[in-house]
Amino acid sequence: EKGNYRHFMQKEIFEQPTVVAQTLRSYLRPVEMQVALPQIDFDISAIDRVTIVACGTSYYAGMVAKYWFEQFARVPVDLDFASEFRYREPVLQPGGLALFISQSGETADTLAALRHCKAEGQTIAVVVNVPTSSMAREADLLLPTHAGPEIGVASTKAFTCQLAVLAALAAHFAVKKGRLDREAEAEVVRHLLEAPASLNAALAHDDEIAAMAHLIAPARDVLYLGRGPDFPLALEGALKLKEISYIHAEGYAAGEMKHGPIALIDEAVPVIVLAPSGPLFEKTVSNMQEVRARGGKIVLISDKAGLEEAGEGCMATIEMPQVHPLIAPLVYAVPVQLIAYHTASVKGTDVDQPRNLAKSVTVE
Ligand code: F6R
Repeated sequence: EKGNYRHFMQKEIFEQPTVVAQTLRSYLRPVEMQVALPQIDFDISAIDRVTIVACGTSYYAGMVAKYWFEQFARVPVDLDFASEFRYREPVLQPGGLALFISQSGETADTLAALRHCKAEGQTIAVVVNVPTSSMAREADLLLPTHAGPEIGVASTKAFTCQLAVLAALAAHFAVKKGRLDREAEAEVVRHLLEAPASLNAALAHDDEIAAMAHLIAPARDVLYLGRGPDFPLALEGALKLKEISYIHAEGYAAGEMKHGPIALIDEAVPVIVLAPSGPLFEKTVSNMQEVRARGGKIVLISDKAGLEEAGEGCMATIEMPQVHPLIAPLVYAVPVQLIAYHTASVKGTDVDQPRNLAKSVTVE
């Protein structure tokens, strides 16, 4: 049921504060301020390599997780598209953890990659939204997202719930590896517990984004830029826009612009910059200035401090709440989803059933 919403996608975007809170409830102990994973019957501290495999939006959640696992737990992570992983003869170290991320738990390439890793003796962990799915059944460690059924073909709430689980897993790993003491763990838990309120604050900009979408809808090409754990959000923003508005879009690591894509910039190409203030902010802003110097029209998505510093001269700005860098990818998912949603609405495309796409891709 869509309730008061026009589309399932819109409803699912607005459900995020609730479902992320619901997901976090089974991974955090708010009284003890600790991370609490389901019973793990293998020694997680012995794992010294993680292989993450997924497709599409779930792959981008995996890409954020790679930044987190390496930064917090100092565990090296290999990341691959399931369709590439299967055929590239990956070298798997004994004792490794293979982590599969999937909303449906049925994506054919991801499932085949899981079976390959299992046959190679890897420990199998899955982050899935459908608890009765094939991937859930075949895993050694099941990490469910509690997003509820996702009907819109474009994944939204499943993505932010995946990020919530992966953040908790990264923190748990870091604790087990002796990289986070009790105090630091409590700090991470505190930031995660703030995520639902921050998602609500991000959703409050819906009207503004709906108005801004009129500036995006006429474009033929759109670029998204981000850095660090927000780079995958640039890729996700571009994917969402492509799939539901049919506007060509690309996401780039902000620092890569000058290595080629900047040649595309002119006043007809909106450039959406995701830049929460923090250690990477200055670098991203200098990449943004390079774009602006070439006549690029910029939409800057940042927080109050970031917009005060760099908002001037942008075509539009969208203010996000001030958040810890750990939860920024969850919060910045909201504006990229809303930009795609409202741009598609302006264009009048079928938001819930985009052409050529299926909810679950069960062919390889
Ligand atoms: C994009 C989207 C797809 C899926 C991909 C993987 O909005 O929905 O890119 O993310 O097909 O699907 P799951 O997560 O079910 O394995």
